[in-house]
Amino acid sequence: MRKKLKLGVLASGSGTNLAAILESSANNKIDAEVKIVISDVPAAKALERAKNFKVPTAVHERKSYPTKEAYETAIVADLKKHDVELVCLAGYMRIVGKEFLGAFPDRIINIHPALLPSFPGLEAQKQAFEYGVKISGCTVHFVDEKTDHGPIILQASVPVLDDDTVDSLRERILKQEHRIYSEAIQLYAEGLLKIDGRRVKIF
Ligand code: GRF
Repeated sequence: MRKKLKLGVLASGSGTNLAAILESSANNKIDAEVKIVISDVPAAKALERAKNFKVPTAVHERKSYPTKEAYETAIVADLKKHDVELVCLAGYMRIVGKEFLGAFPDRIINIHPALLPSFPGLEAQKQAFEYGVKISGCTVHFVDEKTDHGPIILQASVPVLDDDTVDSLRERILKQEHRIYSEAIQLYAEGLLKIDGRRVKIF
């Protein structure tokens, strides 16, 4: 069997994407294992989900550190302690700074609930719904210094139906997020992704 890629997951909220990754790993659908889950929110449900899978957790609140650099240095130390090879942001609600990016160059990925470059930032599903698009979706991408901007690994499209609400659209997009996040991790684990400028080539 292939050596398992060591993942670190950062999550600020509910953690359904984390749960999907944990399940894919437990069912051997991905050659990867989550070594640590880190949250900036002590009450995040994601931490509970990690504990259910017996995965170590850590909490680092931004307010506990004098600077963003110090905060990120602490996170990076935890990730390194667990020999993390790929960092997965899964509903992590903070902008990744220089400290963090420099420690994991081209080794941080994120999931965004819209077809980038449309609707970056917060409440992407609401932005898409209110704009009136007929198709939205989700994007897994490498993280760079700009928000929701790095090279795109995978996208999935999701139709916006006439009787949708923001919530029903969010749910339909979330199902695709759970699917493509694991797919992207597996591509990375197999060494099949190559960044070529803005483009990620899949071999
Ligand atoms: C997802 O929609 C993800 O795309 C966005 O934040 C949400 C997190 O959901 N970045 P969950 O915590 O994984 O349930």
